[in-house]
Amino acid sequence: MNKFVWTIKNSVKNSTIDEQHQMFFRIANSLLDLTERDDVTREEMMIKVSELGNYAFYHLGTEEVMFDTYDYPEKIAHIKSHNAFREAVNKMMLEAREGNNTKELAEKMANFAGDWLMNHIAVSDQHYADFFVSKGLK
Ligand SMILES: [Fe+2]
Repeated sequence: MNKFVWTIKNSVKNSTIDEQHQMFFRIANSLLDLTERDDVTREEMMIKVSELGNYAFYHLGTEEVMFDTYDYPEKIAHIKSHNAFREAVNKMMLEAREGNNTKELAEKMANFAGDWLMNHIAVSDQHYADFFVSKGLK
């Protein structure tokens, strides 16, 4: 199974956000690691599923506070993309909680969240990189 690897090319020129993106990938990877273990329990996977969801939401919130604080001009479109992700992740967490095939659903969620973040960093997050640098953040 492919894991998510953060490299300097994924940097958005802000150390707080870069660290959060790396942590987000680390949790997605550790959920994938769990789903590869034969002896994994449903409970272990559900704990990690919640950790991934909670961390993802915490991270999006951090960005949104920065958008408000510095009145980021593209904030409405960016938050819209966060909200679509929040909705999809909530749905997946619910599915994992209710479904019998936890392994499959947990793997699907880890891959979805990691892929989404990789694309989101490359497109939407790059839009704010220079803006926050211009505000003196690093
Ligand atoms: Fe974002």
